[in-house]
Amino acid sequence: MTEPSADCRSDRHLWVENLAPDTRVSGCYLVKSKKLSTTRNGNPFLSLTLADKTGDLPAKVWDRAEILSDLFHEGDVIEIAGKTDTYQGQIQLTVFTLHPFTERPDPDLFVETSPFDIPGMMRSLRTVLNQVRDIHLKALIDLFWKDRRFMNLFRKAPAAKNFHHGYLGGLLEHTLSVCRLAAQVSDHYPALNKDLLITAAFLHDVGKTREFSWGMNIDYTDEGRLVGHIVLGVAILDEKLGSLKYFPDELAIRLRHLILSHHGQYDFGSPKEPKFLEAFALHLLDDLDAKINGLHRFMERDRQEGPWTDFNRMFRKFFLKSPVPGTRETEEKRETEINRQGMLFSPNA
Ligand SMILES: [Fe+2]
Ligand SMILES: [Fe+2]
Repeated sequence: MTEPSADCRSDRHLWVENLAPDTRVSGCYLVKSKKLSTTRNGNPFLSLTLADKTGDLPAKVWDRAEILSDLFHEGDVIEIAGKTDTYQGQIQLTVFTLHPFTERPDPDLFVETSPFDIPGMMRSLRTVLNQVRDIHLKALIDLFWKDRRFMNLFRKAPAAKNFHHGYLGGLLEHTLSVCRLAAQVSDHYPALNKDLLITAAFLHDVGKTREFSWGMNIDYTDEGRLVGHIVLGVAILDEKLGSLKYFPDELAIRLRHLILSHHGQYDFGSPKEPKFLEAFALHLLDDLDAKINGLHRFMERDRQEGPWTDFNRMFRKFFLKSPVPGTRETEEKRETEINRQGMLFSPNA
């Protein structure tokens, strides 16, 4: 077997999102999942999910599957050579040769980061949090903000492994978005306690700083799997409340409930269902932000031809992805595209 001539630098890499059928592929990819199975005839084969930061690529290894399977684990980067084809409307890779990549891989190949600037998001979050007037809640927010170890994790953590904001800086991006919604919605509904809702929006997912690990790959920590971010969030809150001597008990109970109920239903891992206005609002805002981000990412990554997306298993439906006809926004996008192409093909370009 000859070694695959792969290049593992990001400037030479074939990105998963750009792969077309019938393409020869050689390069480095992260192994997200690995399963050794047997065909009906009893021949072993390997099913892999390979990935880079632009997406996942299902792959199969038909030859020497058992021997090759022993060479690497899930979470490893492997160097492969293979060819793409389509299977059930999706691009799939048949791997001819592979071996573990033993050098330090270029993290830029695998680690997706929030499209928004992290220091900028931190400043915006501080601006929203500055709207909180209650002295106890202000003191609590400041305690979190001054905890450098915590904030270092908070600004880098993902908000999920896959679905919404599943990239570095995702937790900060999601938290900022829910805090902004909380401020706007409590201006719209004066019955909501704005200070409480903004503080809870800031704290609702802090447990994710311990639920996930991130490096080459986002994954659950053991603590994340066994305890989960909701209960971890209450533990982190209680740790901070322990050093605030005069924090009212009633307010502490409200905050605990806000964290414990933010997933809304028992079916979605919520230990409690929302039982007062702000808790109900927080659940709806969290759900809105997660779903808009998750669906938008799904539609952006969709490679199905035509106006409809591939079937979305989470929402259990197909989505219409063609632009809304005749609106100003669509026209503006069209003009930008025409200008861009004009520049690309102009003789001076
Ligand atoms: Fe959550
Ligand atoms: Fe959340």
